[in-house]
Amino acid sequence: MGVVIVSGGTNGMGRAFSLKRAERGDRVLVLGRNRERGEAMAGGPITFRRVDLSSVAETRHVIEHILGEYEVVDALALFANAVAPRRIVTAEGLERTFALYYLSRYLLSFGLRPALDRAAAPVIVNVAGVGVTRGRLHWNDPQLTSGYSAITAQLQAGRANDLLGVGFGQRSGSRARYVLYHPGFTKSGDRSSLPPVVRGLLAMAALAARPVADAVAPIHQFLDAPPAAPVTAVDRDKRLPDSFPTLDPSDAERLMDLTEKLLN
Ligand SMILES: NC(=O)c1ccc[n+]([C@@H]2O[C@H](COP(=O)([O-])OP(=O)(O)OC[C@H]3O[C@@H](n4cnc5c(N)ncnc54)[C@H](OP(=O)(O)O)[C@@H]3O)[C@@H](O)[C@H]2O)c1
Repeated sequence: MGVVIVSGGTNGMGRAFSLKRAERGDRVLVLGRNRERGEAMAGGPITFRRVDLSSVAETRHVIEHILGEYEVVDALALFANAVAPRRIVTAEGLERTFALYYLSRYLLSFGLRPALDRAAAPVIVNVAGVGVTRGRLHWNDPQLTSGYSAITAQLQAGRANDLLGVGFGQRSGSRARYVLYHPGFTKSGDRSSLPPVVRGLLAMAALAARPVADAVAPIHQFLDAPPAAPVTAVDRDKRLPDSFPTLDPSDAERLMDLTEKLLN
C-alpha cells in the first residue's frame, strides 16, 4: 500500500488505473480538470484535486499542495493530455499541447522528487507515445507559432516526454525509476474537440482498439515491481533499447536546458 498521484485521473486510462489502485489498497490523489467526474470518484482512498495542468502556475501550486500534504509519494502516473485541433495559447503565452502534455509532466516529475525520494521504491510512469519515431522537437519554435497542426503538436510533445524520461535520469539525482510507456491505440481518449468526421472515423477504428484494462495492466506491474534501470521505455509489451533514436541523450540535455530557461 502506498500513495499514488495520477495526473489526468478523471477519465480514460488514468481513471481506470486510479480506481484499480484504490481497490488494491493504495491512497490515490486524482488530478484532473473536470470537477464533476473527479468528485464522483472521490471518497475513501481516492482524493480529487481540480487543476488545469496546462497552467504552469496551477501545476506549481498543486505540487506545493502535494508536498505539504504527503510526506511520501510512492508513485506518480502521468496521463493528462488533450488534443487541440486549432492552436490554443494559454494565459501564460504557451501553446496548450506543449504546456499540458509535456510541461506539466516535467514540473510534476522534478517537483515531486523530495516526496518520491522518501519512498522505498519510487516510480514515475509517463504514459505517452514512446516507440513512435514520426515527428520531432521544433527547437527554434517549440510553441509552434507557424505550421501548427494537432498531430504536429501531439508528436512534438510526445517526443518531449521521451526526452523527459532520459533527462530526468540525467539531471534529477532522484532514486525514482522513470518508465516511459506507450499503451498503443486504446478504447479511451476524449474526442469531443475533434471534427465530426474525424470522430466518426476514430469511433470505427476504436472497435479494434485495446480495452482500457489491458492497456493499463503493465502500469500496475511497473508500480508493483519497479524496473532496476533508472529509465525504461516500453512500447506496448516491447522493451526499447536505450539507443532507440527518440531517446538521444544529447537531445535530452538540450530539451532540459530549453525547458529550464522557459520556466525561469
Ligand atoms: N487512447 C489512445 O489510443 C492512446 C494511444 C497512445 C497514447 N495515449 C496516451 O495515453 C495518455 C492517456 O490517454 P487517454 O486515452 O486515457 O486520454 P483521455 O481519456 O482523454 O484522458 C485524458 C485525461 O487528461 C485530463 N486532462 C485533459 N486536459 C487537462 C487539463 N487541462 N488539466 C488537467 N487534466 C486534463 C482529462 O481530465 P478531464 O476529463 O477532467 O478533463 C483526463 O483525465 C495520453 O497521454 C495519451 O496521449 C493514448
